[in-house]
Amino acid sequence: MQEKYLEQNKEKFLNELLDLLRIPSISADPNYAEDVHKTAAWVAEKLKNAGADNVSINETKGYPIVYGDKIFDPSLPTILVYGHYDVQPADPIELWDSPPFEPVIKNEKIYARGASDDKGQMYMHIKAFEMMVQTDTLACNVKFMIEGEEEVGSKNLETFVRANTEKLACDIVLVSDTGMIANDVPTITTGLRGLSYLEVEVVGPNRDLHSGMYGGAVANPINILSKMIAALHNESGEIAIPGFYDDVVDVSAAERDAMAKAPFSLKEYKEHLNINDVYGEAGYSTLERVSIRPTLDVNGMWGGYIGQGAKTVLPSKANAKISMRLVPNQDSTKITQLFKTYFESLAPESVKVKVTPHHGGEPAVTPTDSIAYQAAEKALFATFGKKAIPLRCGGSIPIVTMFEDVLGKKTVLMGFGLDSDAIHSPNEHYGLFNYYKGIETIPYFYKYLAELS
Ligand code: BES
Ligand code: MN
Ligand code: MN
Repeated sequence: MQEKYLEQNKEKFLNELLDLLRIPSISADPNYAEDVHKTAAWVAEKLKNAGADNVSINETKGYPIVYGDKIFDPSLPTILVYGHYDVQPADPIELWDSPPFEPVIKNEKIYARGASDDKGQMYMHIKAFEMMVQTDTLACNVKFMIEGEEEVGSKNLETFVRANTEKLACDIVLVSDTGMIANDVPTITTGLRGLSYLEVEVVGPNRDLHSGMYGGAVANPINILSKMIAALHNESGEIAIPGFYDDVVDVSAAERDAMAKAPFSLKEYKEHLNINDVYGEAGYSTLERVSIRPTLDVNGMWGGYIGQGAKTVLPSKANAKISMRLVPNQDSTKITQLFKTYFESLAPESVKVKVTPHHGGEPAVTPTDSIAYQAAEKALFATFGKKAIPLRCGGSIPIVTMFEDVLGKKTVLMGFGLDSDAIHSPNEHYGLFNYYKGIETIPYFYKYLAELS
């Protein structure tokens, strides 16, 4: 019956997603504030139409959180579905083959900002819910919480969750905001990295100077900043901040063995990125480097003259944005402090240094021995005919640890994206296969969770 409903509504489900993708809900850029609010209203409307009760748009100090639920049998488990309706900025816009907010379908994929992260994946849940309501097969109670600030650190979500612990009471949190190894390799994400994000500024002379008149006698902040950044790693690719690795929990040999068996082709990986070789911490495989090991990366760096042609200038300032991905049990506040102390110690007397922390988030590991994990495994088996592979991933969804701390509940990360979806990059896309497969799989999760509970 569900299959028939999906088959009959494929086009409608797709067109609705395309409408959602047309609204540029970029949370990082205040110029899009109106669109972000519009998106919240759109999601609330669709949630209502799909059959949810108590639909509300909850204003916060930032962007609203959309809530809706269907509680019909207190004896059944309650699933809290979390997702986000905000997206990353589309820059650099000139590298898109089609406009980021005018979705097009090419080679069975939907191209648009947010197609995979996370509008496409979030909307699968609303459509799966509609399908279950319409075919009278809803097997669990459900609550939806869809936020609009995930891409800027979920600043106001914690306040909302803390103030509404009763309303959000549930048995398990279900999130589709991660990926699979490949379309024929169903995957359950079992860990996420934490994040420490900060900005640094190195200030030299009180104004830009003529690089001939002053060069050689006055510290050049860009030269100095480059040296300081270079000192953040050692020759083996380890992070040189004293104490940085102190709290890192070593991953068991068994888990490392399992990772080594996950289907992964280094050759394809390199080809896909057009690189001659990979690069990273000695002693770890590529999959390990992007999941179980912490990292430090410069995300952007600026200063001096970057316009057309040449200008001889000794700049007054240099800046960089730096992120560190963290693993269990590193603590983002502590790591930010360690960074600050070390970074300041690297600066010569001739410059001043300012370190400004941005958002952070704690790493998470999710259990593989729970009923909810089994339900996800069975659901994926039902639609893929294959046993899902548990895999930690390198990205961050800081709210996962927050749900555990505040609601006392674990999360199941059942994502349907692919690494090649180009999330946060130009030409982001999401496969039609993935969209429909998600809609098809989600009801099985409800079914098996109810059966196993
Ligand atoms: N959906 C991603 C997280 C993700 C990316 C999970 C790739 C699995 C694979 C999420 O929207 C995201 O981008 N998170 C940010 C962190 C946030 C605090 C800005 C990230 O990982 O950079
Ligand atoms: Mn996301
Ligand atoms: Mn994202």
